[in-house]
Amino acid sequence: MTGFNTKLVYGKGLNNLHDNCTGAVNVPLYQSTTYAFKDIDGENKYDYSRSLNPTREYLEDQIACLEDAKHGFAYASGSAAIHAVFTLFKPGDHIVVSKNIYGGTFRLINDYLKNLDIEFTQVDTQDLADVESAIKPNTKAIYFETIDNPFMKVTSVKHIAEIAHKHGVFTIVDNTFLTPYLQQALNLGADIVIHSATKYLGGHSDVIAGLVVTNNEEVADKLYFCQNAVGGILAPEDCMLVIRGIKTLSVRLDRHIQNAEKVLQYLDSKTDEIKHIYYPGRAGDETDEIARNELKGYGGVITFELSDNVDPKAFVNSPELIWLAVSLGSVESLIELPYYMTHAELPVEERNKVGITPQLVRLSVGLEDPEDLIADLEQAFAKAKKLTAVESAK
Ligand SMILES: Cc1ncc(COP(=O)(O)O)c(C=O)c1O
Repeated sequence: MTGFNTKLVYGKGLNNLHDNCTGAVNVPLYQSTTYAFKDIDGENKYDYSRSLNPTREYLEDQIACLEDAKHGFAYASGSAAIHAVFTLFKPGDHIVVSKNIYGGTFRLINDYLKNLDIEFTQVDTQDLADVESAIKPNTKAIYFETIDNPFMKVTSVKHIAEIAHKHGVFTIVDNTFLTPYLQQALNLGADIVIHSATKYLGGHSDVIAGLVVTNNEEVADKLYFCQNAVGGILAPEDCMLVIRGIKTLSVRLDRHIQNAEKVLQYLDSKTDEIKHIYYPGRAGDETDEIARNELKGYGGVITFELSDNVDPKAFVNSPELIWLAVSLGSVESLIELPYYMTHAELPVEERNKVGITPQLVRLSVGLEDPEDLIADLEQAFAKAKKLTAVESAK
C-alpha cells in the first residue's frame, strides 16, 4: 500500500487499526488512561496513556508514513511540538533561525529559550551565504519555515540541508503551511519536520495539535522522552479529529489551491487598491524556481499589502462571509492583519524591520465558492476605500 491518498485514509495500513475486532472502519478512540497488566511480571506495550495511547500511536504512525519517516510524535499543540524539538538543545548551544518565523516561535525563543542560555542568530534563510556565515562552533541546528509567514517566500530545504550537513548540524523545518502533501521535507534532506496540525492537517478549526517526524533514532528517543517526561501529549479525542482531518487532506488542499488561484486572479485586478501580493512562485526571484522544484503546490494562504487609499481596519472589518480571525488552513476563509494580530508578538521595530506594516493583510482561502469570496472582498474594498479629495467634495 504505497499511494499517498491511500495512506491518508488508512495510515500505515488496514491492519494498523490495532485490536479493532468489531469491523469498525475507524481506529477506535481509546479513552483510557491506564491498561491492565495480565500478571505482575508480564510486559505491557501500553501501561499509561501519557506514555503511549493506541489512538495517538495510530496518528503518529500515520504522519510518519505520510512523511516517509521512521518516527512520528503528536503533541498538544504546534507550539508544544516546537518546544519539544527545542528540548534537544542545552545551555551553550547555538541555533541559526530564520528571521521570518511564526510569532509564537519568536516569543518562545526570545522570552523563554534565551533565558535557558540557548543562543540564537536570526538570518534571512533565502540568503545562503548569510545562513552559512552565521554558523559557529557551538551551532547545533538551522531552524526555518519552508514558506515564511506572512511573506510566503520559499526557502530551499535542499540547499539549507546541504549547508547543515556540511557543518554537522540539524535541519529543522516547520512545514505547517505545506503539509506532507505539498512537500516531504525529510526526503529533501531535513532531519526534523514540525507541523501545527491545527492548520491544514486538522483542517476544520476544531482541534489544536502538533506533530513532529524524524528518521534520526537519537532525536526520536529524546522526543519520546519529552512526551513522556514533560507530558505535552495530544489527547485521544484530539488525535481522532486530526486522523479524520488527514483523510481528506489532499482533496481539501487541491480545492484550497484552486480557490486561491481564482482569488489571486481577482486580487491582481485590484491595481488601485493593492500594492503588492505575496504568494509562493510570485516573488520574481530565484525562490520561484525553488518553489517549482521543491513544492507540489503552494497552498491557500495569500498575503497582500493594501495601497494607502484603503483603510486596513475597515477592510478586514467589512467581510460578511470571510471571518476576521487568526489561524489558517481550515475549510472556512479567514482574514487578518498580521501587524495587529498574528505578528503582534514581535516588537514594533522588528515588525518594521521585516516589513510587516499595518497595511498588510493575510487571507487564508477556504473551501467556499470562490465567486462568493471574491464578491465579499469586493464589497469590503468598496467600504474600506478612502475617498479622494475630489470624490469627497462631490
Ligand atoms: C507556522 C506555524 N507554526 C506553529 C504554529 C503554532 O501552532 P499551534 O497554534 O498549534 O500551537 C503556528 C500557529 O499559527 C504556525 O502558523
